[in-house]
Amino acid sequence: MAPEKPKSAIETLQVDVKKYPPPAAFAAQANAKPEIYDQELEAFWDKEAKSRISWFKPYHKVLEWNLPYAKWFVGGELNICYNCVDRHVEAGKGAKVAYYWEGEGVGERKTITYSDLLKDVVKLTNGLRKLGVKKGTHCGIYIAMVPELPVLMLALARIGAPFTVVFAGFSPDSLADRFNDMEVEFVFTQNEGLRGGKRLPLKANVDEALKQVPTVKKMVVYKRTDGATAMQVGRDLWWHDVTAGQSDDPKSCPCESLDSEHMLYLLYTSGTTAKPKGIMHTTGGYLVGTATTHHYIFDIKPDDVYWCAADIGWVTGHSYIVYGPLANGCTGVIYEGTPNFPNAERWWDIIERYKVSILYTAPTAIRAHMKWGPQHAAKHDLKSLRLLGSVGEPINPEAWEWYHEHIGGRRCPIVDTWWQTETGMILITPLPGITTLKPGSATKPFPGLVVAVVNDKGEEVPLGGGGYLVLKSPWPAMLRGIYKAPERYVQTYWSRFPGMYFAGDGARMDKDGDLWLMGRVDDVMNVSGHRISTIEVESALVDHPKVAEAAVCGRADALTGQAIVAFVTLKSGFEATPEMLAELREHVGKKIGALAKPANIVFTPDLPKTRSGKIMRRLLRDVAENRPLGDTTTLADAAVVKEIATRAVTEATQHEV
Ligand code: PRX
Repeated sequence: MAPEKPKSAIETLQVDVKKYPPPAAFAAQANAKPEIYDQELEAFWDKEAKSRISWFKPYHKVLEWNLPYAKWFVGGELNICYNCVDRHVEAGKGAKVAYYWEGEGVGERKTITYSDLLKDVVKLTNGLRKLGVKKGTHCGIYIAMVPELPVLMLALARIGAPFTVVFAGFSPDSLADRFNDMEVEFVFTQNEGLRGGKRLPLKANVDEALKQVPTVKKMVVYKRTDGATAMQVGRDLWWHDVTAGQSDDPKSCPCESLDSEHMLYLLYTSGTTAKPKGIMHTTGGYLVGTATTHHYIFDIKPDDVYWCAADIGWVTGHSYIVYGPLANGCTGVIYEGTPNFPNAERWWDIIERYKVSILYTAPTAIRAHMKWGPQHAAKHDLKSLRLLGSVGEPINPEAWEWYHEHIGGRRCPIVDTWWQTETGMILITPLPGITTLKPGSATKPFPGLVVAVVNDKGEEVPLGGGGYLVLKSPWPAMLRGIYKAPERYVQTYWSRFPGMYFAGDGARMDKDGDLWLMGRVDDVMNVSGHRISTIEVESALVDHPKVAEAAVCGRADALTGQAIVAFVTLKSGFEATPEMLAELREHVGKKIGALAKPANIVFTPDLPKTRSGKIMRRLLRDVAENRPLGDTTTLADAAVVKEIATRAVTEATQHEV
């Protein structure tokens, strides 16, 4: 489907934009100085790569750019685990805390120093090597927010075994699709997860998934709870048995020297078809990109306590809980549970307890806290905070102001960071201490990056006008392709505007050159900062035996940014009852995961179609958004859409995430 033209109404937003210049005291101590914007792309990254990262073998070329394929730090060899762990201990910083881990159960805590982390990683790596995990062995991971997850991601990086982490909210079917696409041989999970006061059957989900994944040889299970766990003899092993008796001496288990372009991981993300894309990230450029952006954007200092409250199962957690922060030798926080367990004070208790100085989260979480009210934060001492961040979707100015006032005490700059699974690192962002902030704007491209807003023909639109966001220069952590789908890679990102990376987002650049992101322009919804394709949800619905036809779109939602609305036609003989609605929501949850369950389902005897039989989603979006209907003249039967509109979206909205 052709993307819609960006709406010119957006331009009116420009009126009355508030501006927040950098506080002088922050600017005086900031890591980033204004000259950072003056540097030439390759010279900038060369300097960062040499000063920030330890190479086993130096690279001979910073960038080899054969559009759309980039190689960064060509010929260089390094190991990410060595950079994230060993070298800090070798430098005498072993006693520094790498992570404060807070379990969801109140009072369950662990402090993990860099020395502890090294020992844990080495023991696990030795155990894995004994099991037969080697450089190039493909591994699948389905583990929630426990310290064993980063330990495993580091151990696999130490060996050079590429992996994919699947977010613990995905269903067995989604797991099976991803594990099959990557052809994983080893799978890692935990018996049960703990979230929102509930136990999640993670091992049971993997058992279900593996019935469809023939390549798996072994599954390693971390015992998180005392819940009964069925183990399949010959295939399943306990984590503690794999590590038992293994040496924790790093000399017993040296880091592999890996080519800069060695594959680190695949992360699957939704696109405009039902099949998720395996986004490929490699070693040298990814580490340089994530560590450098983390240092400047979050202004990391040696005594900071940094908390990225995302889930490690998404790209934000990969880049900014694990690899970037650890490469910088930073102290981080990992929290296992939901923000309101056992009550809405939990986050603020964590900030006070660990004296968190930097908090990085998503607008949807900020809006949830707004809903619960500022009194919860007010009961805690949040003076340790000095910088705040936002990611995942456009942050509405009201949420920005609330975050600034009630959490940041009006003294903390907010970095609104735009990026994607594909970009691997933050690309559009303020630099704290330099940039004048505007609530709702992600402001400027990261130094060295060239960004433009173009019209349908690929021509740059005048400042103030809306269009499509494109990236015109390569960056170190950029995706290296879609796994096993080179044509899809070219077609999705590089064909719409030849020579430019098409991000799939609408944007506007204002008169100061600041960027305002306006959401997706394709068939991808953004629910709570997570990408879900409309077609994936439609396929899940149509898969239900009682469904004849389904169409799905997103509508604006005050809490989750966008919410999923499904229009469903049932097969004859089946009735649109509340039970049917619940059954369909459950079915989508089972096929994809709870996060894809529609917030609303509208049952309709027919869907609006053109005479050639194409569903007119534009009209469904109008209905979902409660807007007046657009042009209906091309409809085969104009009565249908009027009928749907009268049904409106009657069911109460049901939020999952
Ligand atoms: O639409 C943009 C939105 O999230 C998409 C990327 O989603 P994902 O790959 O899941 O990664 C999310 C975390 C990096 C983008 O195409 N998005 C992300 N950050 C912002 C944003 N939209 C507006 N402002 C942001 N700061």
